[in-house]
Amino acid sequence: MSRTVYVNGDYVPEEEAKISVFDRGFLFADGVYEVCSVLDGKLIDNAAHLARLQRSLNEISMALPCSLEEIEAAELELVRLNDLSEGMVYFQVTRTSKDRDFYFPKDAKSSLVMFTQVMNLSKNPAAEKGLSVITMPDLRWERRDIKTLQLLYPSLAKTEAKNKGADDAWLVEDGFVTEGSSNNAWIILQDGTIVTRQLSHEILHGITRHSIIKLAELHQLKIEERPFTVEEVKHAREAFVSSATTFVMPVVKIDGVEIADGKPGELTKKLRSIYLAEAKNL
Ligand code: PDD
Repeated sequence: MSRTVYVNGDYVPEEEAKISVFDRGFLFADGVYEVCSVLDGKLIDNAAHLARLQRSLNEISMALPCSLEEIEAAELELVRLNDLSEGMVYFQVTRTSKDRDFYFPKDAKSSLVMFTQVMNLSKNPAAEKGLSVITMPDLRWERRDIKTLQLLYPSLAKTEAKNKGADDAWLVEDGFVTEGSSNNAWIILQDGTIVTRQLSHEILHGITRHSIIKLAELHQLKIEERPFTVEEVKHAREAFVSSATTFVMPVVKIDGVEIADGKPGELTKKLRSIYLAEAKNL
């Protein structure tokens, strides 16, 4: 069934949506995006996603095409028009242009497109089984804190992982895990300490990551923000990834080695249910 999508103020059937071939998002991956999950028809953590969008835009000197309030109103309208109960709203802002040119003027206009996607998030069967990951070198650029459209390397990494029989790739730099192809990476040590890499330009500042840290603190769980090695993952008690579309998703194998007994860990399961309960109560 055809979806209604949003293109610069208009709500149109997906087959009729049009963007210029000179759009710099298309030619240079010159743009930023956000993914906000939808549960029971409600946007989860949308204010934080909008704030990160604004930050990403500032970092690449791109203007907001309309106010953040208007973006939120359009997201809600798309959820309504598509009768979306569970899934995600995707929105991206790109820089427009009339010709292909590496140079862009300060006052270049930007374009906003949005669409919804139905997804089974809260009862995702992968959460019962856990993911297996393989490690790959992190060959992305050095400003991963900006949520840009440059997703070729993460796509290649994920595809290679799938082709090798795994579910996803964990990216490694200087011997330490940075993050997953499209999620933040976490381990839980034998003493129960929850470890995830600290914020820097090297990783995306995950909105779900932030919520999990707040919830863990609320439940008196110990959190350490620091880099960890692949060896540490292999000897961890549990591991998981976080993102807007996976929430807390167990990881049970890395490079063919089972983590603990190779089943989703108890604390990971608890964090997932705490996160979901909190999100559904918003
Ligand atoms: N990806 N790290 C990377 C590289 C990501 O692409 C994502 C999200 C995250 C988690 O961020 P958040 O918790 O704010 O979703 C971390 C989204 C879901 C995507 O590209 O589809």
